[in-house]
Amino acid sequence: MSADLPSGLRPTLPAWGQVSPERLQHIQRVASLVDAWSESLGVPDSERNRWLRAVWLHDALRDATPEELEAIAPGTPVPPELRHGPASAARAKAEGEADRGVLDAVRYHSLGLAEWDMVGRVLYCADYLEPGRQHDREGRAALARRFPEDPAAVLLAVARTRLVYLVRSGWTIPEPTWRFWNSLVAVPHSPR
Ligand SMILES: [Fe+2]
Repeated sequence: MSADLPSGLRPTLPAWGQVSPERLQHIQRVASLVDAWSESLGVPDSERNRWLRAVWLHDALRDATPEELEAIAPGTPVPPELRHGPASAARAKAEGEADRGVLDAVRYHSLGLAEWDMVGRVLYCADYLEPGRQHDREGRAALARRFPEDPAAVLLAVARTRLVYLVRSGWTIPEPTWRFWNSLVAVPHSPR
């Protein structure tokens, strides 16, 4: 039975959030998973609060219009469906969120970022492993259970799956994404 965070430390959707009911349920499932992991890992309330702030912010503008996203974060050089992260981070910063780890977690949650602290890594994994997604339910559930024992191995597995999907899709690999992947594998390619 997980202890609740004190109400002052329990994040929720920001007042400026624009999410459909289905999106809200996704965010709630991500928050539940992150809450369970923080409990298993025994992280302090202040760190748990950072993780949950990022969760509640990451898709807060997922259902805003392209025009609204452009107004909040003009000229963001990513495809339209990836603009909600940078826009939400910009809005959160304007509203007073000053934690670099939280802002980077939100801004890059669709791409990955080599410089992420634990907030970005936790969000990236939980966003993908939450139980509401349809594909590979068992495999993802196993990774979700394993996370508290070995966060780095689970992160590597999630990043690999997402990268393989991206390669198969034929999209170009965004620079932060390949840098993130290289930072995880960490063995430099040595010319022979
Ligand atoms: Fe999400």
